[in-house]
Amino acid sequence: MMDTVEAISMPAIVCHGGAGHSAKDQPGVDAAVEAGWEILQSGGTALDAALAAVVIMEDDPALNAGTGGRIRADGSVQLDAAVMTSNGQFGAISCIQQTKNPILVAAKLLDDNVNIISGRGAREFADNIGIAREKVEGSLKLTGNDTVGAVARDETGLMVVASSTGGCTGMPAGRIGDVPLIGAGLWCDERIGIAATGIGEQITLKMSSVRMADRIEEGYDIENVLNWGINQYPPDVEVGFIALTTEGEGLGLANTKMPWSSKV
Ligand code: GLY
Repeated sequence: MMDTVEAISMPAIVCHGGAGHSAKDQPGVDAAVEAGWEILQSGGTALDAALAAVVIMEDDPALNAGTGGRIRADGSVQLDAAVMTSNGQFGAISCIQQTKNPILVAAKLLDDNVNIISGRGAREFADNIGIAREKVEGSLKLTGNDTVGAVARDETGLMVVASSTGGCTGMPAGRIGDVPLIGAGLWCDERIGIAATGIGEQITLKMSSVRMADRIEEGYDIENVLNWGINQYPPDVEVGFIALTTEGEGLGLANTKMPWSSKV
């Protein structure tokens, strides 16, 4: 007899295409939500849904991740990505080169005893798990400077946050933004999953994602949590967040333009 998993939760997904991006980049985000939603609807896991969504956005040259990752001061394309789950797993890679879908490399660290790998070591780790080296074109765009992210919840109640970025145009080689830093660019626990987008240094200084998550414990709802997160920044520092809790629909909020979309 086949084992059946009792559905205890309503599947949901929310994605963003980066703070500073305009409505013209919305189609890539909508496509990502659709892909993740299809997986959730057919009983797939939040991990598979979040990864599928981020891969679609990494493959969209209009967005700043994977193929559209911003070019560094030395002409290189170095990408950061991270995945965190509500059951306590985390994996991240930073400054990886020659890798179109860094999110898939970060995901392989979820079951590893190493949390974060950077630079040459990250690329060698990708070689070892069979992810081919490929040229990543990158983008010199100066606007719409930031990151893609997804938060998904599956019918078992598992929540997963996945986030990927090319950083900001002209940043030094080796610079690490908020995305691979746990508690800063992303957070996920049994209460809430959050992904941040914006100026990585500012988000890291404020440890936004984990501090926002703690407000759920204090009884605030998701809208309050997002507003509180945004209000920690002056208006000239562009930031945005998406979040999803154990119930209901995901939400996105930014102090600038930010394409985002959700399904429940
Ligand atoms: N938020 C992405 C970065 O600053 O690298």
